Amino acid sequence: MISIAIDGPAGAGKSTLAKALASKLGYIYIDTGAMYRTVALWYIRKGIDTKDRDAMLPRLNDFVIDVRNIDGVQHMFLDGEDVNGLIRTPEVSMGASNVAVVPEVRLKLVEIQRQLASRNDVIMDGRDIGTYVLPNAQLKIFLSATPEARARRRFLENTAKGIETPFEEVLADMIARDKQDTERAFAPLKAAEDAVMLDNTTMTVEETIVYITGLLEKIG
Ligand code: CDP
Ligand code: CDP
Repeated sequence: MISIAIDGPAGAGKSTLAKALASKLGYIYIDTGAMYRTVALWYIRKGIDTKDRDAMLPRLNDFVIDVRNIDGVQHMFLDGEDVNGLIRTPEVSMGASNVAVVPEVRLKLVEIQRQLASRNDVIMDGRDIGTYVLPNAQLKIFLSATPEARARRRFLENTAKGIETPFEEVLADMIARDKQDTERAFAPLKAAEDAVMLDNTTMTVEETIVYITGLLEKIG
């Protein structure tokens, strides 16, 4: 099986790149962030503070997370309910970063991620894919851009979806999330030593895809 790992901070363009490469190569795209978002949604719905590890841990086996590919699109199921439309809010974004600090949560999701990669050729995006989840991935990419560029991208995306969070708030949330993701003790956001580093601040989506496709051709 072949695995490609794409890691980097929020809004760097990981999922856009991963989806494009997956359809080009015929691999399955796995969005691991959506799994942390789904866990966060369950706790938020239950009224459990996503920063309160002691309150969260006893409930870790009380819900079932399932990843299904429907017509080439990843859908997250929470206790049998398709929650794809509910996990992109700012509240769930921060909740995802909070639950992602807890090692027991990570281990539960990493098991699903490794199982998917053992059965399929995958392009997986996240924070710890190259360093922790799939250390033997054939290609690792660490995608970054300045916080302002990333926040602007997310802001435009939100606006298109009718989410009206002010730019300054999107930027502040993103910086807070990146800080927590980078500083957590277990499997933090970090580039693998053998990752290709790409800052795409001034690159369009298309330019980024062309660059990485060229790289893939070079390594065969
Ligand atoms: O997955 P990640 O959070 O890293 O980012 P994304 O969801 O792929 O990209 C966030 C937004 O930035 C999307 O709307 C992309 O179309 C946009 N984007 C961009 O404008 N220019 C790039 N070079 C990459 C992404
Ligand atoms: O789309 P965006 O880049 O904003 O976030 P995401 O990829 O959906 O991830 C949401 C949150 O889940 C991140 O801020 C991380 O805290 C966490 N996450 C993680 O810890 N490890 C991963 N492999 C993927 C996401």
